[in-house]
Amino acid sequence: MSSRHLGIGLLGVGVVGGGVAQILPGKATQLAARAGIELRLVRALVRDPAKERTRGATLPPLGTDGAAVVDDPAVQVVVEVLGGEQPALDLIRRALRAGKHVVTANKEVIAKHGAELFAIAQQHGVALQFEASVGGGIPVIAVFQHDLAANWVSRIAAIINGTTNYILSRMASEGADFGDALADAQALGYAEADPTADVDAYDPCYKLAILASLAFGEEVRPEGVHREGIRSLSRRDFAFARSLGYAIKLLAIARRRADGIEARVHPVMLPASKMLAKVDGVFNAIEVEADLVGTALLYGQGAGSLPTASAIVADVIAIADALARGDRPRTPIPPSSRARLVQIESIDSRYYLRLSVPDKPGVLAAIAAVFGRNAISIASVQQPEQTPEDPEAELVIMTHRASEAGMQATIAQLSGLDVSPRVQTVLRIED
Ligand SMILES: NC(=O)c1ccc[n+]([C@@H]2O[C@H](COP(=O)([O-])OP(=O)(O)OC[C@H]3O[C@@H](n4cnc5c(N)ncnc54)[C@H](OP(=O)(O)O)[C@@H]3O)[C@@H](O)[C@H]2O)c1
Repeated sequence: MSSRHLGIGLLGVGVVGGGVAQILPGKATQLAARAGIELRLVRALVRDPAKERTRGATLPPLGTDGAAVVDDPAVQVVVEVLGGEQPALDLIRRALRAGKHVVTANKEVIAKHGAELFAIAQQHGVALQFEASVGGGIPVIAVFQHDLAANWVSRIAAIINGTTNYILSRMASEGADFGDALADAQALGYAEADPTADVDAYDPCYKLAILASLAFGEEVRPEGVHREGIRSLSRRDFAFARSLGYAIKLLAIARRRADGIEARVHPVMLPASKMLAKVDGVFNAIEVEADLVGTALLYGQGAGSLPTASAIVADVIAIADALARGDRPRTPIPPSSRARLVQIESIDSRYYLRLSVPDKPGVLAAIAAVFGRNAISIASVQQPEQTPEDPEAELVIMTHRASEAGMQATIAQLSGLDVSPRVQTVLRIED
C-alpha cells in the first residue's frame, strides 16, 4: 500500500457504483479521517464507457476489461457492484487470489459461492466484505458478524425486498391489483423490466441464505430455502386481511429447530399490531430473536444508490483502517458445515384460505369435512354477501394451528370434491 492513499478498483458504475463514485471524492476529507488514509478510485469497469453518467460522480478512467482493473498494481481494494453471477464471480476470485481485498454488494454471488470465496480469502489473507448485499444501507451483516456475537440466534424474520414490499403496500393502501402495482413500481424504477428476481422471491432467498448462514454459523444454501412469490395475491386478499386485522407481507423467515433449520420466503399474514406489519413502501426491516438481546429490529432503506453505497464505503473504510494501522484486515470465516434444512411440510402454522365456491347447499359442509379429515380445525369462516348475478360465492377460512402437510393434503382434496371449490389463495399466518 502506498503510504498516502488506498487504491480502489470499481467493477460497475451503475446505481450503486455511481453512488460510490459520488461519495468517495465528495466526502474525501471525512473519509480519509475515518480510514486513516485517502481513498482513491484508480479505474473502473463498465459495459459501455461511452454511456452518459450523471449524478455528479467524479469518475476514474473507465474500461471494459475487468481483469485490467483487478490486476492493476495500483488497486488494493476491488469493489464489485456489477450484479449477477458472472463475470462478477470470476473477477472476485481473481482479485482474492491476487491478494486484493474485495468489497461486494452481490447477494447472488455471496449466497451461492460465499463458502468457497471465504476460503479463498482466508488462504490469501485478504478481506471479503459484503455489508451491502443485504438490507442496502441498513447495517445488518456487521450486526450478525460482530454485535450479536455473544448471542444464540433462534429466529430471523425479515422484509428484505423493497420492490415487493412497495407492491404489497400499494395493493394494501389503494386496493390496487398486482399488475397495476407492479407497473407503477417499474415506472418509478423500483422494479426491473424483468421483475422475476423480486416478485418470484429469488432475491430475498439469496439474502435470507446469507443472513441465516451468519446467524446460525452453518452454510444455508439458497436453493434449500423454500420460496413462494407474490404474483398470485389479489386485492381481495388485502381487503379481507385488513378487515381481519392483518397485513400481508413477503417475509423471509429462518428458525433454528432441534431437527435442523427452517428457511422460507413467502407471503404471510401478520397481525397489524406487529412492527414488521408497519414496514411499508421500499423500506426493509430485519427482526432478530436471540438469547441475550431478546428481540431486536433493524429498519431502514434496503436499496438505493446512496444508502447502498454507504454500506460499501463503510466496508472499504474498515479495510483501510486496518491497513493504515499496519494490521491485516479481518478475513472472513468460512462456515464449518452445511446446514440441514427442514422441509416446508414439517412446519406448523395457522392458515388463511380464500376459496371460490359454487353457491349451492351442502358446499360448506363438504369443505369442512375435508378440513376435519386432515385434522385441521377451522377458527372462522366468512362468506361475504354476493350479488344475484354472481354464480360463485367467496369463502374465507381461517384455521387454528395445523401442520403444513395436513394443509397441503386439504388443498389437494378440496379440488377433488364434486362441488369443485377453487382455492384462490393460501397464506400462512405468522403470529
Ligand atoms: N440498486 C440497488 O439499490 C442495490 C441495493 C443493494 C445491492 N445492490 C447490488 O449491487 C450490485 C449492483 O447493482 P446496481 O443496481 O448498481 O446495478 P446496475 O445499475 O445495473 O449497474 C451495473 C454496473 O455494472 C456494469 N456491468 C454490468 N455487467 C457488466 C459486464 N458484464 N461487464 C462490464 N460491466 C458490467 C454496468 O455497466 P454500464 O453502466 O456500462 O451498463 C453498470 O455500470 C448488484 O449486485 C445488486 O444486487 C443493488
